[in-house]
Amino acid sequence: MEVNNRFVRSATIENLAKEDGEVTEKLIKLHSTLAKGEIGLIIPGYMYVHPLGQAFKYQTGIYKNDLIPGLKKIVDAIHKEEGKVAFQIVHAGLQTFSRLIGATPMGPSGDIINPVSMDYSREMTEEDIQESIEAFVEASRRVVETGADAIQIHAAHGYLINQFLSPFYNRRQDDWGGSDEKQFRYLKEIITKTKKVLPANIPLLIKLNTNDYTPTEGITPPLAAKYSEWLVKLGIDAIEISCGSTVYAIFNMCRGDVPVQEIAQAVPDYMKAMVEGIYQDMVGKYNFDEGYNLEAAKMIKPIIGNIPLILVGGLRHKAFMEEIIEKKYVDLISMARPFIREPLLVKNFKEEKQDKVACISCNRCLAAIPNNFPLRCYVNKFPEEKKPTTYFP
Ligand SMILES: Cc1cc2nc3c(=O)[nH]c(=O)nc-3n(C[C@H](O)[C@H](O)[C@H](O)COP(=O)(O)O)c2cc1C
Ligand code: SF4
Repeated sequence: MEVNNRFVRSATIENLAKEDGEVTEKLIKLHSTLAKGEIGLIIPGYMYVHPLGQAFKYQTGIYKNDLIPGLKKIVDAIHKEEGKVAFQIVHAGLQTFSRLIGATPMGPSGDIINPVSMDYSREMTEEDIQESIEAFVEASRRVVETGADAIQIHAAHGYLINQFLSPFYNRRQDDWGGSDEKQFRYLKEIITKTKKVLPANIPLLIKLNTNDYTPTEGITPPLAAKYSEWLVKLGIDAIEISCGSTVYAIFNMCRGDVPVQEIAQAVPDYMKAMVEGIYQDMVGKYNFDEGYNLEAAKMIKPIIGNIPLILVGGLRHKAFMEEIIEKKYVDLISMARPFIREPLLVKNFKEEKQDKVACISCNRCLAAIPNNFPLRCYVNKFPEEKKPTTYFP
């Protein structure tokens, strides 16, 4: 795949699909605008591969063939502007809400609390594991049918694949856990089986954590290094480096401010005081730091050699981006929050209209997601209207 420049729109859930995951006109419009901004590669928000793997109510789905025509419209809108598009596929595993999926969220191991939903996980059976692997493979086949240029497997941020890779979530002592090799097996099977259905011209990308920041040890930099080596052997085409998890370490993933009130707005009244207390304790501990995953990237790059490394996390100044490319620490510059506020950023960089992004990492766009508000920059005003949230869908 050849891209027009080194900029990537990192996957960012848009909260703009219908409740069954179907694409809407608003979602197509958003991607058409991003493509007009001349971003080399656009990765739309993560798409769930199985109904039990849905994370949010208005998340885009790719779990059934009926969704293909809508997804194709996103691809066409991006291609019309000569952009490239990779679809990111995900299964939430235990990182969802029983009230959303109508079942107990499952993960590699049982009895693990999701501190956001307060649900305890159910241990996946062999059948669950095989069904979810198949769901990833089927989703990949659908991506190809939409005409998208690439696939990105979401193995980061505490979702199901990350759960298998991490000794914090994966406490199994069978063929799927108990050693680094066995923890890796789930991802390995997905990649091996997916590659069988992929035409040779469709690259398979992955988003990987180099640090989970879970309460006890999960993926750490040395383990991520080992996994990267194995990913190269499996023929992965590019690795995007990230960190943190949506429920245990969200502000490692998105460093910046902690918008306590906006997060607390998403929970029912009886939980508000507790949630405010939890998030208030985090204030000031995740201060913004330019390119906060760069050290991890420097560690991974020599291991993966010629395979492109995509860096995400706090990239905000053009000079900094140019420097890390010139020094060959990374190959592509990926951003999420800056493109929410300024979809035309790359074009403006090119035309030398600006040399840094306007996003101030206040994280209100992030707080909007559990509130079920559509993705946009909320720096000036956060909606006060109440929406039925994922806590009580
Ligand atoms: C509102 C919002 C939604 C996100 N949705 C996703 C997603 O769908 N998939 C994903 O891999 N990461 C997601 N992320 C994480 C971003 O892709 C990115 O890794 C993170 O925001 C750090 O990059 P940034 O500093 O450029 O924002 C999301 C982040 C935000 C703020
Ligand atoms: S709400 Fe706007 S300024 Fe704040 S982090 Fe999101 S995009 Fe950036």
